[in-house]
Amino acid sequence: MSDQKLHDAVMAALGTVIEPELHRDLVSLKMVRDVRVEDGAAHFTVVLTTPACPLKDVIYQRAKQAVLKVDGIRDVAIKWESNVPADGRIFGRMQLPLRSILAVSSGKGGVGKSTVAVNLAVALAQSGARAGLMDADILGPNIPKMVGLGFVQPTITPDQKLIPFEVFGLKVMSMGFLADPNTPMIWRGPMLHSAIRQFFEDVAWGELDYMIVDLPPGTGDAQLSLAQSVPLTGAIIVTQPQSVAVDDARRGLAMFEKLNVPIVGVLENMSGDLFGEGGGERLAEERDVAFLGRIPLMANVRQGGDSGHPVVADDPDSPAGQAFHAAAQAIAARVSVLLLTQAPTIPLNVIK
Ligand SMILES: Nc1ncnc2c1ncn2[C@@H]1O[C@H](COP(=O)(O)OP(=O)(O)O)[C@@H](O)[C@H]1O
Ligand SMILES: [Mg+2]
Repeated sequence: MSDQKLHDAVMAALGTVIEPELHRDLVSLKMVRDVRVEDGAAHFTVVLTTPACPLKDVIYQRAKQAVLKVDGIRDVAIKWESNVPADGRIFGRMQLPLRSILAVSSGKGGVGKSTVAVNLAVALAQSGARAGLMDADILGPNIPKMVGLGFVQPTITPDQKLIPFEVFGLKVMSMGFLADPNTPMIWRGPMLHSAIRQFFEDVAWGELDYMIVDLPPGTGDAQLSLAQSVPLTGAIIVTQPQSVAVDDARRGLAMFEKLNVPIVGVLENMSGDLFGEGGGERLAEERDVAFLGRIPLMANVRQGGDSGHPVVADDPDSPAGQAFHAAAQAIAARVSVLLLTQAPTIPLNVIK
């Protein structure tokens, strides 16, 4: 067969490979690029919808198997790239080059929401995504401490934008950077509203794939104003396993649904002997949303937060580190599916 014919046969074979989560073939999803056949070897690039793709191996196996069936192909070499789909409303309404905004939320305080937000953001960055972390917990900002920054003053660009800090591969901004740590801040509704929007518009975030927002606990003003003032791509609901915590998380989930914010899923934190496990999974099942995994209750998670070295950065192979990585992948995959299937509610600006 001529190289052109082989090329077409390889394309046809890739057209039969189904992306396991989007349930369409790689070619019509425009995930295949630069197909080239040389000496019986097929070379091509697969463009994933997230660098944190949990199903890369499955896609690899399926693509390889399909292409090796082509007569005359003896070898397959795949290059990987990624192009995260964009929630077009963010650029449309705010002219900000952020591809997604994800709120991390919980019904009540103390369930580990900030810990989860930090570790997820770091895990996404470690996988190669451009990640940002916004501490919108204005009354009790604790992200600065958790990423080892303490009390620092951000600098300002010539056009008066705050420059976010870069730590563990991600960009971070917190209300905690802007106020004296000993002065309690009292934010009333309208101020809270403008503060959250300002955090998007007055910070030089640059281009990001995932903006993680750590919200204050509860189902009150902050959630409402965030959902009203910026287009939220989705909400991640954090809960502890025990039923009292799940009741609070259920209220939070219902509130986002009422605000038409898609639910990325439920993540169970502090799973294990003390609080049991399974509450998060049951909540996800009951509300028909994705279960994103469980993070074990482990001393190194708390130590990581206290010392400013998130556990995924310092101890990625520990059970908690691995659990955060798996959760970050599950979230990235869910966000891709949300963005690629919820059109026209979320206008697309998909693969180039
Ligand atoms: N999986 C976990 N294992 C052990 N300790 C945890 C875990 N998740 C959170 N913590 C600890 O629990 C406390 C509360 O967590 P934090 O993230 O501040 O909660 P929230 O933001 O929901 O108020 C912190 O001391 C934190 O280090
Ligand atoms: Mg917190």
